[in-house]
Amino acid sequence: MPTFATADEVADAARANLPTEVWEYVNGGAATEVTLRRNRAALDALLLRGRVARDVSSASAATTFLGVELASPVLLAPIGTVGLFDADGAAACARAAARAGSAAFISILATPSLEDVAAAAPGAPLIYQHYVRGDREWSLELVRRAEAAGYRALCLTVDSPVDGLRERELRLRFDRGRAQAQPNLVGARRELQAAVTWSDVAWLADETALPLVVKGITHPGDATLAVEAGAAALVVSNHGGRQLDPQPGAVEVLADVVEAVGGRAEVAVDGGFVRGSDVVKALALGARAVLIGRAMCFALAAGGEDALVETLERLRVECERTLALLGVTAPDAVGAEHVTPARPL
Ligand SMILES: Cc1cc2nc3c(=O)[nH]c(=O)nc-3n(C[C@H](O)[C@H](O)[C@H](O)COP(=O)(O)O)c2cc1C
Repeated sequence: MPTFATADEVADAARANLPTEVWEYVNGGAATEVTLRRNRAALDALLLRGRVARDVSSASAATTFLGVELASPVLLAPIGTVGLFDADGAAACARAAARAGSAAFISILATPSLEDVAAAAPGAPLIYQHYVRGDREWSLELVRRAEAAGYRALCLTVDSPVDGLRERELRLRFDRGRAQAQPNLVGARRELQAAVTWSDVAWLADETALPLVVKGITHPGDATLAVEAGAAALVVSNHGGRQLDPQPGAVEVLADVVEAVGGRAEVAVDGGFVRGSDVVKALALGARAVLIGRAMCFALAAGGEDALVETLERLRVECERTLALLGVTAPDAVGAEHVTPARPL
């Protein structure tokens, strides 16, 4: 029997285990928190349309992302402050991903060093998430380190030229910079993150043989630019409502981005995903995978690596249940006909 039966139980245990300011920090969004709320509200405003009496006895959530085989379309999001939720930090994420057949994005801001994360989980599919906090030489050194450590892909997050206005952090005087060490960040210059342009994205894509994932796309025009710059995958994301606010929820913009990409890159999405049915809705709108951010933090705070494995397995089982109830047997078989906007009652 799993320790936690539902997502709510995991979140309750996390709340009980975390200091108030860390709980507020992780749950918070930017400014009005409209974006944060819309991430969830937009998922709830989408309803499933199933077909019945089809043989779904073989329903499986297994899929691939950038060629990596996955037990389900659920990936672990990059969380810079992951060390606040588990003493092993991103190493716990890497190990949980390996055990549950998932893949983990590892933030440049995380503990321990990117090499130590890789060494903690040999063979785990890891994606190194970079922020440009130095000149090109500085970035290249980190990319080469990730390549040498066996990371499967490089992710550049582009939605954070400056920090969003995190009012909960201000109110609590929470200083996230001091909250944990940042071993990868030697010689960093935060101000250079505001100067990143599409030419830097294209340069990075050219410099590495690893597939490039561009994270933080919300506009179809930017999706096109990312593909033209050489992105192999995009993450449709508003950073969990922590950056530009107010803006639409992530799933509100997903279909337009998928259309702009036109099959030239894989599309993942994050923001508010909690249940397998949420994940299947994203598949119906054309996503190939979904990232979990806060749900991952809650699992780590609730019960460390084991609880995160449980969360990933629960999401896989819920995805498979939802696929079967829709009348299909695989993620690829889910399409626009399986979702409908909720009409006001
Ligand atoms: C505490 C916290 C730290 C984060 N750190 C990073 C980061 O270092 N790099 C990054 O690209 N995104 C970061 N994000 C955004 C997540 O990767 C992801 O886009 C977001 O959490 C998804 O929304 P969800 O939390 O509702 O699942 C962070 C999010 C949270 C909540």
